[in-house]
Amino acid sequence: MHLSFRATPPAILETMGHGAFEPAHPAPMTGPGRDYLRLYRLARQDYLSVFRENDYHTRNSQLRGFGRQLVTVNVPDDIKYVMVTRHDNFERKAPAMRRALEHLLGDGLFISDGETWKCRRPMVADIVHKGRIPQFSRHMEEVSQALVTRWAGLAPDVTVDALAEMGGLTAEIIARAVFGDDIGPDAANEVVCGFTSFQSVVDNINLAYVAGFDNGIPVVKTPRLRRAIRRVRAVIDRVAANHLGSTHGDGSMMDLLVRRQKKNPELGLDLAALRNEAATIFMAGQETTAGTLTWIWYLLAHAPWAEEALHGEIDRVCGTRTPTLQDVASLDYTRAVVEEALRLYPPVPLLGRQAREADRIGGIDVLPAGLVTISPWLMHRNPDIWDRPHHFVPERFLGPGRPAPYTYFPFAIGPRICAGLQFGLTETILCLAILAQRFRLRMAPGVRVRPAARLTLRPVGGMPMTVHSR
Ligand code: HEM
Repeated sequence: MHLSFRATPPAILETMGHGAFEPAHPAPMTGPGRDYLRLYRLARQDYLSVFRENDYHTRNSQLRGFGRQLVTVNVPDDIKYVMVTRHDNFERKAPAMRRALEHLLGDGLFISDGETWKCRRPMVADIVHKGRIPQFSRHMEEVSQALVTRWAGLAPDVTVDALAEMGGLTAEIIARAVFGDDIGPDAANEVVCGFTSFQSVVDNINLAYVAGFDNGIPVVKTPRLRRAIRRVRAVIDRVAANHLGSTHGDGSMMDLLVRRQKKNPELGLDLAALRNEAATIFMAGQETTAGTLTWIWYLLAHAPWAEEALHGEIDRVCGTRTPTLQDVASLDYTRAVVEEALRLYPPVPLLGRQAREADRIGGIDVLPAGLVTISPWLMHRNPDIWDRPHHFVPERFLGPGRPAPYTYFPFAIGPRICAGLQFGLTETILCLAILAQRFRLRMAPGVRVRPAARLTLRPVGGMPMTVHSR
């Protein structure tokens, strides 16, 4: 259900100066606060563009209309209250997110709650756990190395879409990790295209919720949506069925899930449940890392001093040999670049929760079924917390100090924290090191970058760039 007309989005702020770079972000919204139609139209295109100047500060706020309530929490102690102390009351995802993803992920971990989430979380967390990274890191190394070879063969000045390039890279890595080596780039690509077209047709706002349905209503399956779902399911079901029927394991995540089920039949993981968890890990692990790597290329292209420090570190630590998992612990500056990119462009910029029962957050009374949002985007750019909040300064993540509690959470926080945090961080650092050892990327002429968030944060129209050997 949606209205098709568009609102004029706010201007994009982006400034470059000697040794300083303020990368692209929407100017804070101005104008009447209760123009709900305008807010709705803007939020459908990019929900970051509805934030006003004071939303970025340490304060909570609420919007009430049509008997509904939207509470935005941007105070560290209150974020702890929602995400940790009262997790049981706020573990449930916002209806728009659940409805948008349910056709594809079913009861998969990302959108499940209650008993299903409690039972599946330890199992999925164990499968993507940091202890298993050495098993999967060869996919990160091999797939990045294949991209090095392909980029080395590009004609000079050819423009590529860095978002699509990084999307292909992370899709093949996660596809091999989840489904096994044999999946092949075509099947991985098929799943990514299915997901991308799925995201482009589902909405990030469920109007039925506003109209009084506490749980929203299912997204209508248009022929395009059906096609997207069929594409993804066909690949995943084939792999799941192969694993269920096979007696020898290949160590993939699907294999680990199937083995779990065979050992503990009481888990009740049938084909649909296996498909849902595999699709969840794929979706959660593919687009997030692809987006992060893409923003990093954009940031480095405008910050030559940071790019030089990054290259210097990779050369010092790895010399001329290709970076491997063993190098990741020594790549401090590379890690700082990744952490700073995740601060400026958190791939999931809004964590939406729905209250089960009435509650009180930092002086605001929350209604049952009210929506509570916690935004890494707002907190990571909060001028009361961060020095030069909109600037790219990787150095802030160097040294032993860490950001104050509940001020930096690109992977969410509390019991629902990203299960693949270490996997995602390691993958981003390792892929970046392997590619940046050989190449630098530059913006294609005339490109204006605009970040926009629907379900996840992406540059509108991709990231056209040219690839140059170092
Ligand atoms: C840069 C990379 C990544 C970022 C920034 C990221 C971020 C997040 C965030 C913010 C959430 C919570 C969303 C919410 O509460 O609404 C989440 C959940 C999740 N992520 Fe990640 N993620 C990344 C990579 C990965 C990878 C590589 C995997 C798997 C291999 C993964 C698996 C998951 C799973 C399974 C969940 C659901 C956890 C639950 O609800 O209990 N993520 N991620």
